[in-house]
Amino acid sequence: MRQAISSCLFVLMCFAFEAVLVPPTSAASSQSGTASAQTLAQGKKLVMSNGCAGCHNAPGGATLVGGRVIGGWTAPGLTNDKRTGLGNWSAGEIADYLKTGRNSYAAAAGPMAGIVTNVTAKMSEAEVDAIAAYLKSLPGKAANIRPVAASNPAMIRGGAVYADECAACHTLRGVGQARLFPALKGSPEVQADNPTTLLRVVLQGAQSVGTEAAPTASAMPAFGKLLNDQQIADVLTYIRNDWGNAAAPVAKDAVAAARKTLQKTP
Ligand code: HEC
Ligand code: HEC
Repeated sequence: MRQAISSCLFVLMCFAFEAVLVPPTSAASSQSGTASAQTLAQGKKLVMSNGCAGCHNAPGGATLVGGRVIGGWTAPGLTNDKRTGLGNWSAGEIADYLKTGRNSYAAAAGPMAGIVTNVTAKMSEAEVDAIAAYLKSLPGKAANIRPVAASNPAMIRGGAVYADECAACHTLRGVGQARLFPALKGSPEVQADNPTTLLRVVLQGAQSVGTEAAPTASAMPAFGKLLNDQQIADVLTYIRNDWGNAAAPVAKDAVAAARKTLQKTP
């Protein structure tokens, strides 16, 4: 209900802007690409003044492309890139995540949980909409990565682990369950160049935040004791490369290294 109201408001706002600024075009174009310069500037200002870039800029400084590791979490890219950014999320879905801590694609955990609770959930609808419009305006980098072949032994082993341990919640097609179990298909986090967050989530589990708008938090169980290094490497390689996803495979050694690091920084 609330979601329906907020996306409704969002669309109305776009129409209002359009009516003032440009002759009305198709309904689709009101979804993205036609936010006013004023909205984009407000969104950029909110992103800069709330420290988003401090975590979401690349280690080298590139704007909001992600890749920094903070306490065992990789901050994902926030540009409009389809593979490593928010290209698959509509502006309304970005606003929903910032306001409620989740949407049909993801739930905020790790350092982002605190940012949602203390910062973005307290913003007005107009403010989160402005941030969403600004993020959608950032071009993606369009890297051309080939998926690991389905016939690769790691993919076959990983697919079996996935069917046994993960599909009950995330579904066999990787689409998850809206607002409960995040979709792994098309997820920038799952396809991030640096798999630190994935290793942490699967080894230790994760607990997302409850917000006023969506009070019940769901949890991801820890698999660190249940699965060995090879099984975790295989299942991660699998989710990074099925359903149209594409990303470098995860090696068994990376799982062993992550176990050691996580023991030191729980
Ligand atoms: C302290 C570091 C930090 C700060 C500051 C921060 N973020 Fe994040 N953000 C993260 C991490 C880490 C994740 C991944 C969370 C997860 O896996 O659940 C994330 C996830 C996100 C996502 C979801 C992306 C996805 O693909 O799942 C969005 C959108 C986002 N942040 C926007 C923002 C905005 C807007 C701000 C500023 C108001 C901000 N973040 C500030 C660390 C941060
Ligand atoms: C009991 C249900 C359940 C099972 C089983 C489960 N998960 Fe999850 N998973 C979740 C929930 C809930 C979240 C969201 C956690 C959060 O961030 O709050 C999640 C989050 C994730 C994420 C982070 C996605 C994102 O964008 O935030 C990954 C990756 C993931 N799970 C992979 C797996 C893998 C691989 C398996 C099997 C080894 C698995 N899950 C089994 C419920 C489950």
